[in-house]
Amino acid sequence: MNRPLKKPLRILVLMHPTLVPPETLKGQPAEEVHRWKTEFDVVSTLRRIGHEVRALGVQDELNPIRVAADDWHPDVVFNLLEEFHGLSDFDSHVVSYLELLKLPYTGCNPRGLVLARSKAITKKIAAYHRVRVPAFVVVPRGRKTRRPKSLRFPLFVKSASEESSLGISQASLVDSEDRLAERVRFVHESVATDALVEEYIEGRELYVAAIGNERVRTLPVWELDFGKLPETGEPIATERVKHSLEYQKKHQIDAHRAENLDTALTRTLDRTTRRVYRMLELDGYARVDYRLTPQGELFLLEANPNPEIAEKEEFASAALAAGLSYRQLLQRVVSLALARPVRPE
Ligand SMILES: Nc1ncnc2c1ncn2[C@@H]1O[C@H](COP(=O)(O)OP(=O)(O)O)[C@@H](O)[C@H]1O
Ligand SMILES: [Mg+2]
Repeated sequence: MNRPLKKPLRILVLMHPTLVPPETLKGQPAEEVHRWKTEFDVVSTLRRIGHEVRALGVQDELNPIRVAADDWHPDVVFNLLEEFHGLSDFDSHVVSYLELLKLPYTGCNPRGLVLARSKAITKKIAAYHRVRVPAFVVVPRGRKTRRPKSLRFPLFVKSASEESSLGISQASLVDSEDRLAERVRFVHESVATDALVEEYIEGRELYVAAIGNERVRTLPVWELDFGKLPETGEPIATERVKHSLEYQKKHQIDAHRAENLDTALTRTLDRTTRRVYRMLELDGYARVDYRLTPQGELFLLEANPNPEIAEKEEFASAALAAGLSYRQLLQRVVSLALARPVRPE
């Protein structure tokens, strides 16, 4: 639908400096495009809608944001930052800075980012709200692994705070004390964070995208289809599964609308996702990830505020399946930013 724009806005898009996209895709090699496709899609689509858009690279200085705010007076900031100073858990601090500047911004507020970032806090809050999660233990950096008796093998070892499957491979799944200790050490040393050891949940991997502030709408359920991977390894969304186009092609790994979910389960996924969204104080847009066992039990894996929003990725594809074009999706994300109450002077 190409309705005329009610009001063209000035939109400042924040992104990593190495991801500031060129004006056009022409002549760009595929791997290069893959790196900054999200930034390109957002900037070019907002422009096509009719907004005035500036892309600003932000890495380790906040002042350029303030200068752009003072000189250019953006109506809204579109936040595509995933890190600051190279640290992914600093993303919430930048959003806090936007709050201090009283600039409306897209995506999630700082509290939601902090709560969802910690996979342990997420699970503790979820348990209080009776949302089922894998049993787990955190092994802080510098401490030795002590497995509580209640945690039975096979276990899954990952970073307690990192994202994008950093440090997750087939070796994350362990079936002995030695392997467990070895993998915890790997997370401590190579990923440089605390380690999370949790029950391995076999089953389908389902994603539910959600959008909204006080009122939250979920989009059709998406599934990560591991294709031919289970013939050679476990169906786990490792770094290669998520990021290597070549590997995805080789194993026919693909995300698509989840089929064969009965009505009751679809309703549970919708209701649970909205509860998770609220209990973690998320707003803007987010994706909630689950595992569904062959017995039909649903386990929350994690919530991802500010998920990947490139045109062809899961979130936008699920929006399209719900009848929301990419333009409409981005407009909605911007409207939600403007709808959040700004503190009075
Ligand atoms: N407890 C678990 N049981 C089974 N698979 C898991 C478990 N935890 C993580 N995984 C697999 O690892 C992937 C990445 O884990 P996740 O907790 O989502 O971390 P990230 O924030 O890096 O995406 C998941 O998408 C899933 O495939
Ligand atoms: Mg994940």
